[in-house]
Amino acid sequence: MINLNLSNLGDFLTNEELENMMNEAKSAQKKVYDKSGDGSDYLGWVDYPFSYDKEELSRVKKAATTIARSSDVLVVAGIGGSYLGAKAVISALTPYFEKPGLEIIFAGNTISSTYMSNLKDYLWDKDFSVNVISKSGTTTETAIAFRILFNMLKKKYMKEELLEHVFVTTDKEKGALKQIADEYEFETFVVPSDMGGRYSVLSAVGLLPIACAGIDIDKILKGAQAVYNDLKKDDNIAQKYAAVRNILYKKGYDIEILEAYEPSLVNFNEWWKQLFGESEGKELKGIFPASCIFSTDLHSMGQYIQEGRRNLFETVMEIKEPKCNIDIPFDKNNLDNLNYLSGKDLNYVNNTALEATIFAHKEGGVPEIKLEIDELDEFHIGYLVYFFEMSCAISGYILGINPFNQPGVEAYKSKMFEMLGKPKK
Ligand code: PA5
Repeated sequence: MINLNLSNLGDFLTNEELENMMNEAKSAQKKVYDKSGDGSDYLGWVDYPFSYDKEELSRVKKAATTIARSSDVLVVAGIGGSYLGAKAVISALTPYFEKPGLEIIFAGNTISSTYMSNLKDYLWDKDFSVNVISKSGTTTETAIAFRILFNMLKKKYMKEELLEHVFVTTDKEKGALKQIADEYEFETFVVPSDMGGRYSVLSAVGLLPIACAGIDIDKILKGAQAVYNDLKKDDNIAQKYAAVRNILYKKGYDIEILEAYEPSLVNFNEWWKQLFGESEGKELKGIFPASCIFSTDLHSMGQYIQEGRRNLFETVMEIKEPKCNIDIPFDKNNLDNLNYLSGKDLNYVNNTALEATIFAHKEGGVPEIKLEIDELDEFHIGYLVYFFEMSCAISGYILGINPFNQPGVEAYKSKMFEMLGKPKK
């Protein structure tokens, strides 16, 4: 399943430090379960792997079938926690090329006029549906994208047909998007009011786009249920990960780089950065979350990691069993001098790069955490998502902040609205 390997941390922390911080981690997790910490009205995600709305989940599956029937493309309009989780899971679980089923495109996460114009052109002669996702229902990026896409859909389809092309995920009762959905009688899914966007990937927010990509969402939930049970025990991997992060942070290691040797995890890294960045970066505190895909980025960021400022640590995700493997062929001329690898497979080389890099970076003074993941499938992704969510909550409470709000996100919005001349209510 998933194992947290801390064997490369010996030079950077002592057993006593770990024991002390583990006590803090246990108290922090207790606060999550008994809802006694800051932001406790945003803990809906904690029991969700079991308490989710079963009727809604079957509607999610039905909607995915409807969209697959009516469309070639699904555009998911949302920003931040309203799209990063779905994008992460879809990239991780679908093949690099020749994606099966529906094409999934993300919009509403940028205000780039070029992106939106190109998307319009691309969609023009295609049958497409939109899943617009916004908890508040008022987020500018998402609202603008939806207005443009909805305009296109209204020109393309009759009123009744629109019902098979627009699916709204928003608050149960309030917000502009809810009003639009009610007005047009669109099918709606709920962003639970007690769940922040970045903790919502296992709800309809993430599961509808994921199901549309042909991924088995039941298996994802199974993974989340398994880790939910595993994390109920003390000395679990979420407590350990949160404890180690906080020990390192106190010692001045205030940048964490999440790394994978599988490029399909690039968007998982992005989801993780939002989860930890938006949860912990407040009150002038917090580890700065960064990410790399190796060995690719060893040829860009590797120099800094090996020899730059010693304020960073690495969390390496190792996938034990690749989805596919390929042998390195023998070449009788051996002009590239690669015959020493012939008969070996590519995954062996990738794994060796991983082990060698951990070794070299550790020697260079970088603390190394390793997350060993048996394989990259639905179950393990569900496991990993919930593991990181719980770790983040524990880590945030140890840090002494509220891991469930994001007051700082408002600053750019109010400046932008002022400059755009948005009418005050
Ligand atoms: O994690 C969060 O809460 C945020 O990133 C939100 O998801 C993001 O700001 C989008 O908000 P909304 O879903 O209200 O459009």
